[in-house]
Amino acid sequence: MAPAVFGARRQPYSAGRAVVNAALHRPYTAAMLSYRHAFHAGNHADVLKHMVLVDLIGYLKQKDKPFWYIDTHAGAGLYALDTPTALKTAEFRDGIGRLWTETGLPAPVQAYVDQVRQLNRTGKLLRYPGSPQIALQLLRPTDRLHLFDLHSTDSRLLQKQYDGDRRIRAQAGDGYSGLKALLPPQPRRALVLVDPSYEDRQDYREVVHATEDALRRFATGVYMVWYPLLSKRESVRLPAALTALRERDWLQVELQVKAPAEDGIGMHGSGLVVFNPPWTLPAMLADAMPALVRLLGQDAGAGYHLQHTIA
Ligand SMILES: C[S@@+](CC[C@H](N)C(=O)[O-])C[C@H]1O[C@@H](n2cnc3c(N)ncnc32)[C@H](O)[C@@H]1O
Repeated sequence: MAPAVFGARRQPYSAGRAVVNAALHRPYTAAMLSYRHAFHAGNHADVLKHMVLVDLIGYLKQKDKPFWYIDTHAGAGLYALDTPTALKTAEFRDGIGRLWTETGLPAPVQAYVDQVRQLNRTGKLLRYPGSPQIALQLLRPTDRLHLFDLHSTDSRLLQKQYDGDRRIRAQAGDGYSGLKALLPPQPRRALVLVDPSYEDRQDYREVVHATEDALRRFATGVYMVWYPLLSKRESVRLPAALTALRERDWLQVELQVKAPAEDGIGMHGSGLVVFNPPWTLPAMLADAMPALVRLLGQDAGAGYHLQHTIA
């Protein structure tokens, strides 16, 4: 049966109110969320994030031992690209759309595109897999997925989508506290994706706090933290706050697709900090990133940045 795919009403990256419940250290309730990933699915940020996700899962699968995939901000799981919703923003056209008909892609980029092709077997780009779907396509019967989303609609869609698959536990709730409750994981191996929408300023603090706590609870996990490249101060400061959590064993990669806007509005790229990255990841990115800059770059400001402290 063909998988269900979802659309949504449009909301900007920065929508939302800055309300903090400091006592609970829980900044959000579901009612406060307006971001819907359906408007952004398959954009340049998803390309970078999902390409690295495919690579990290491949690396973890090299050992027979099972692992958990934990997605703290999972979204709806699957997205339609042919709905009025997706076509309104059409962000995928400047993301996966630019890679779709390319030949001769570097192997890691091709491996990611192949995962998107699994949902589009006719050859027409109509559907896009979110991070849970990509993980599901790649994980083995012995691996497990723990998915969280706080948005009332997207969490319902997520649960409906994966209902009945015994490998998957999809929960409507706060991914930061969900992560805390799962660590250390029972199989002592895990890949964690922390992928907030940064709808609220509090997310910038929460993502650092949650990652620090997770590294304390389970130091050997592989953690992928996504962030947007925006001109606002908290966004500019975030990567350094993340990499400061550990002296070594982290990697940072950024893809800038255009120069920052003069008015400071909008996202000009995105980045990831990976803790406990495989030693092979820097070489993979050195291979893939020039191609992503060439294919996804929108002006002369396009480029990439890669640094790591892998021993
Ligand atoms: C960028 S999207 C996730 C995209 C998804 N990881 C992917 O790559 O396909 C961020 C998601 O986080 C959800 N969200 C926001 N705050 C949350 C929280 N505290 N806990 C769990 N989910 C949250 C939003 O509803 C949204 O669906």
